[in-house]
Amino acid sequence: MSSFGFGTLTVALFALVCCSGSDEKTFEVHMRLEKLIVKPKESFEVNCSTTCNQPEVGGLETSLNKILLLEQTQWKHYLISNISHDTVLWCHFTCSGKQKSMSSNVSVYQPPRQVFLTLQPTWVAVGKSFTIECRVPAVEPLDSLTLSLLRGSETLHSQTFGKAAPALQEATATFSSMAHREDGHHNFSCLAVLDLMSRGGEVFCTHSAPKMLEIYEPVPDSQMVIIVTVVSVLLFLFVTSVLLCFIFSQHWRQRRMGTYGVRAAWRRLPQAFRP
Ligand SMILES: *[C@@H]1O[C@H](CO)[C@@H](O)[C@H](O)[C@H]1NC(C)=O
Ligand SMILES: *[C@@H]1O[C@H](CO)[C@@H](O)[C@H](O)[C@H]1NC(C)=O
Ligand SMILES: *[C@@H]1O[C@H](CO)[C@@H](O)[C@H](O)[C@H]1NC(C)=O
Ligand SMILES: *[C@@H]1O[C@H](CO)[C@@H](O)[C@H](O)[C@H]1NC(C)=O
Repeated sequence: MSSFGFGTLTVALFALVCCSGSDEKTFEVHMRLEKLIVKPKESFEVNCSTTCNQPEVGGLETSLNKILLLEQTQWKHYLISNISHDTVLWCHFTCSGKQKSMSSNVSVYQPPRQVFLTLQPTWVAVGKSFTIECRVPAVEPLDSLTLSLLRGSETLHSQTFGKAAPALQEATATFSSMAHREDGHHNFSCLAVLDLMSRGGEVFCTHSAPKMLEIYEPVPDSQMVIIVTVVSVLLFLFVTSVLLCFIFSQHWRQRRMGTYGVRAAWRRLPQAFRP
């Protein structure tokens, strides 16, 4: 009788120590999100659950709008709506007076819809520099974005972005280059890639419209033009003066010869005719 009573007590004690103790020490909190990356204003579901058999309290901490859709002792299922910025969600449960929680970061994304490419200038001389600029408005998160500036299918420049201020949602990349003759035969373009694979999302690729550069052979600069003009004028003056000298000397020679002719005729005149 006493031995039976002792046995029952042992089992009861063991059950109390083992199970309430293991529950308290080893209970876990899990969080399952429908997605970790969502579009602005999108809704998503979150399931907070625990391995604790009889949690005292439990729930979801968030600054966003939440609605409890369904619940049972070991889980609570919520709908989160109207997300506008990156946020952290916390699931928590209290088991035998001890609280445990689990967090998840939810990011807001906006795929690149428009990609604008600018070539500056669009008409450039061989050997002169030009700038390619790519601009993508309303895109996030910037740390998942890569902008590639392309000439034909060749990548001239690739730009990635660090964690930027949440307000800054416009991305730009610029690249300066020297114009080559063959640049006129290729299309320039910009490719924006938002890679959300590491956050359980997709990869979004958007191309800009292609643009062409007009290349021309450099003309002599203004200094060269001035030098050429001055040299031409001097050459013209020189040639003109040489010509004038020649003409005048001929004329003078003729006049002198003419004078001699008159004197000789005068000398040749008979004395009787002289005054
Ligand atoms: C929430 O998660 C628990 C544990 O994984 C699961 O048993 C339950 O069915 C889930 N609830 C909903 C509504 O998905
Ligand atoms: C959604 O969020 C925006 C900005 O965070 C707020 O202005 C708007 O009132 C919210 N709408 C609802 C239905 O809660
Ligand atoms: C959430 O983000 C913060 C900083 O932004 C980081 O320290 C933390 O580890 C992230 N948590 C998870 C679960 O990824
Ligand atoms: C450049 O792009 C235009 C418009 O898409 C296309 O018609 C043209 O063939 C392209 N030129 C080259 C050299 O790829």
